Amino acid sequence: RDIVFLEEIDSTNNVAKQLAAQGAAEGTVVVAEEQGKGRGRLERPYFCPKGKGIWFSVILRPQFLPREAPKCTFLAAVAVAMAMERFGLRAEIKWPNDILHEGRKLTGILTEMSAELDGINYIVIGTGINVNIAAEEFPEDIRDKATSLSQMKGEPLPRIAVFQAVLEAMDELWALLEREGFAPIVERWRKYAVTLGQEVHVIGAAKKETFDGRAVDIDEEGALLVETEEGMRRVLAGDVSIRP
Ligand code: BTN
Repeated sequence: RDIVFLEEIDSTNNVAKQLAAQGAAEGTVVVAEEQGKGRGRLERPYFCPKGKGIWFSVILRPQFLPREAPKCTFLAAVAVAMAMERFGLRAEIKWPNDILHEGRKLTGILTEMSAELDGINYIVIGTGINVNIAAEEFPEDIRDKATSLSQMKGEPLPRIAVFQAVLEAMDELWALLEREGFAPIVERWRKYAVTLGQEVHVIGAAKKETFDGRAVDIDEEGALLVETEEGMRRVLAGDVSIRP
């Protein structure tokens, strides 16, 4: 496969989008040692220190509708969780795509796409995995919300081996998605899910509307189903926190 390696870049998602627009092949990976302007969801910055994580983006060209794009994000989250298992680490996935350990974030995923009404030109899945970052190296404002694989394991991890395991898991899941559809991905996702069964507070992405309820499941498009006093609500995008 094509792997584009960059020493330093603003954001691998930006490079991947440019390459995709120029016709780069499906499966092309862009990875950087350091990102000056790592981007998170909802326009948030993402902390990507040099040589301490796996900051990468993958180009996909799926044959499905734009509203099915979240399937790719779920696939990426499950791939990271599967790779962690190979290193003896248990991942927890918070809907839709954050990977946590004991409530602290280890990995974030940012999916961006270019699409027409009837089809997708390309999808870029950007994944940032905190590998060897000590607690005190995180900026103060995220120190008690973030963690890393090395903190979980109690020793540094080989970044290249972790990266290979993640890419292998992504390939495996991608083949599964093409063969059997989204259901088996969701089934795997559920094994790691920490959101389901919990009382949650939802902040909708579009309207900034908020509500409380109980997260019961995700549907065939990856939307979170939340049982509220007014009935079942489907959450396609937004922020969900587990209420204490
Ligand atoms: C989030 O948790 O809000 C998503 C974080 C996504 C970070 C990754 S790192 C590689 C890729 N390039 C970016 O600028 N962002 C993603």
